[in-house]
Amino acid sequence: MSQSHNRGLIEDFGRWREFRAGMWAWIFHKFTGWVLVGYLFTHIAVLSTAIPASGQEAAVLQAGDDVYTQTIVTLEELLLVRILEVGLLAVAVFHILNGTRLLFIDLGVGLESQDKSFYASLILTGLITVASVPTFLAGAF
Ligand code: HEM
Repeated sequence: MSQSHNRGLIEDFGRWREFRAGMWAWIFHKFTGWVLVGYLFTHIAVLSTAIPASGQEAAVLQAGDDVYTQTIVTLEELLLVRILEVGLLAVAVFHILNGTRLLFIDLGVGLESQDKSFYASLILTGLITVASVPTFLAGAF
């Protein structure tokens, strides 16, 4: 038997208040997925600027004066970069946990407890992110 739902107007932005766990899970998953794609290209762009390091003298590399090392050191000295790294970890952990959860749901596992497993992904992401802060911010101040 088929069911029909009145979904209301898409143009009514006030509808975000009606969103339930499944909608937030969908939004967060798309958002984190595309942030990861954006990071991947940024990462390649930044590291590709360090290619000249391969042509440098052994002594320069040893002293850490090469372009690659200087690029990384300069970036890691910025507090903003350290904070963005924590954000990247949060985004990646959530995408992996929620993505794994979705794969199980596709297999028919956990269909009855989708809200709970979404909240579990969020809480676990929060815990792992908070636990990572001392490592990412070490020596930043
Ligand atoms: C263990 C790692 C990962 C798992 C388990 C995973 C899982 C998934 C799953 C199951 C979906 C489909 C969700 C749906 O049904 O709508 C998805 C979507 C997506 N993933 Fe991942 N993913 C992983 C890593 C990544 C990485 C590393 C990237 C980017 C570099 C990425 C980018 C995306 C994007 C952009 C989408 C959304 C595509 C769309 O708009 O339909 N994922 N992921």
